[in-house]
Amino acid sequence: MANSLQHIAIIMDGNGRWAKQRLLPRTVGHVKGASNVRQMVKNFSDLNLKYLTLFAFSSENWRRPAEEVSALMNLFLQYLESEVAEMKAAGIRLRVIGDRSAFAPVLQSRIDQAEQETAHNTRLHLTIAANYGGQWDVLNAMRAWQNAYPNKNLQDMDAAALSTYLSTADLPDPELLIRTGGESRISNFLLWQTAYTELYFTETHWPDFDAAALKKAISWYEHRVRRFGRTDEQVVQGHAGDNLGTLNSAPPLVPPLNIS
Ligand code: FPP
Repeated sequence: MANSLQHIAIIMDGNGRWAKQRLLPRTVGHVKGASNVRQMVKNFSDLNLKYLTLFAFSSENWRRPAEEVSALMNLFLQYLESEVAEMKAAGIRLRVIGDRSAFAPVLQSRIDQAEQETAHNTRLHLTIAANYGGQWDVLNAMRAWQNAYPNKNLQDMDAAALSTYLSTADLPDPELLIRTGGESRISNFLLWQTAYTELYFTETHWPDFDAAALKKAISWYEHRVRRFGRTDEQVVQGHAGDNLGTLNSAPPLVPPLNIS
């Protein structure tokens, strides 16, 4: 039985190299990348996938040249301005995760507006990670938990409790993470949420990652044996269909010792 799939997370890498190969400025690569985001959202809708999370700007990307950072911010703003009406009509719910307080006020208010206008949609959940870092997310969650329970100490916190304070609290963990552009690292993306995610790395640069490339990644995923800590034999013996797509539904991380 093929693995179930509802949530794909993507690290959209390779815009700069795509442009360089064509002797174009890096920012042109980002423009192409943004138009591929539009296309990818359509591909997702066509495949009836429910959750798409895109890494658009990491908390470390501020280290890029100011001109490039500014081009990325403008593209994000333009994307929100041009796409939200269509998202609203197409049943797409848009959310942005990350520390948005660092963004220009106009971008912050456009994000708020886009989230409010699409809040009731359920067909496709599109999450854009912007000024996002996985370490920030976990630290934030720990602090929020401590604020909610000022009289408890960290010994009382477990994985399930922490998960409810992450920026992705109401999303299932991604079953598949795709990174385009040939690098094989997570780059501080969804560190907690990808504990059992299948990782797919492709040389294809993001602007060239099309519907056929997406289908190839999905087909690769469907043939993975997902063990969630079990042995192959256990999986064959009947747990293969468990579809333990999230750690919330996986067995306890630390099962009780049974010493007799
Ligand atoms: C990585 O490629 C890409 C980024 C840091 C930005 C991703 C942004 C977009 C796809 C466009 C804007 C997004 C939205 C949601 C409208 P890179 O520049 O690191 O490429 P390189 O590794 O080849 O230099």
